[in-house]
Amino acid sequence: MEPAVVFDNVSLAFDENLVLDGVSFTVSKGSMVMLLGASGAGKSVILKLILGLLRPDSGSISVNGQRIDTMREHDLLRVRADMGMAFQEIALFDSLTVSENVGYRLDQESSLSEDDVQQRVEEVLGFVGLRDYLERMPSELSGGQRRRVAIARAMASRPKLLLLDDSTTGLDPITAVDVNEEIVKLRDLEHITCIMVTHQIRDAFYVATHEAVRQNGDLKIIELDAAQADNAEFMVLHDRRIVFRGSGSELLASQDKYVKEFLYMTLPPW
Ligand SMILES: Nc1ncnc2c1ncn2[C@@H]1O[C@H](COP(=O)(O)OP(=O)(O)O)[C@@H](O)[C@H]1O
Ligand SMILES: [Mg+2]
Repeated sequence: MEPAVVFDNVSLAFDENLVLDGVSFTVSKGSMVMLLGASGAGKSVILKLILGLLRPDSGSISVNGQRIDTMREHDLLRVRADMGMAFQEIALFDSLTVSENVGYRLDQESSLSEDDVQQRVEEVLGFVGLRDYLERMPSELSGGQRRRVAIARAMASRPKLLLLDDSTTGLDPITAVDVNEEIVKLRDLEHITCIMVTHQIRDAFYVATHEAVRQNGDLKIIELDAAQADNAEFMVLHDRRIVFRGSGSELLASQDKYVKEFLYMTLPPW
């Protein structure tokens, strides 16, 4: 099976600022990768490269078996139709209702009937606990609710690849858990590939150590003990390169100097 995403020796600079220097990694289909790194490390740049919004200076990038770094914009639209993304800077349309915000891509890019679009919109808003907010305007929502709408919109088209850029940063801890649980459900019940950028290590571990299961028709989120928690892989981006790749327990045990410092700064006790 071809991988969902392949970076091969990718480098990118903005003028004098070399952001990625020979970055290589593979994300298998149906897997989940947590991309960690300090602010400014290049995490969002990696997601934008996957979307084809940026192009590398050298190296190659493939998504679902297709080279996208050399692809024409017209063909990229088709590749992007299989991706859902929720960016750090949430871009909801202020003049559209919650329901319209979530449904607009489905309206434009799918062959679904109006009723089917509406049904899917209500379903994904239900996932993020906002089914009662269909007719609200974005200005009537809290920051956390807006983020959840952005995540619902990213999920609406059942993308094969979900890209989440710091979706839980700035949320209160309770809402962050709600959002994390939705991500867990998508991974375990809809079997999507997910790359989750975060600098909230707490959220990364939550997603890695929880699993969504159906029990007697009910949906449950269960906690795995740390030893079996290989539900997500971690990558740490530092100094223009991936300096770590492995499971959560390997991350905690890493002897890499930067990884140790990063964990020391971000894990309790604070
Ligand atoms: N469009 C752009 N033009 C110039 N510099 C950029 C652009 N996008 C990102 N950068 C620079 O690339 C580096 C990585 O940015 P980014 O990927 O946003 O970091 P983060 O890991 O916080 O998401 C930063 O130094 C940023 O200033
Ligand atoms: Mg970023």
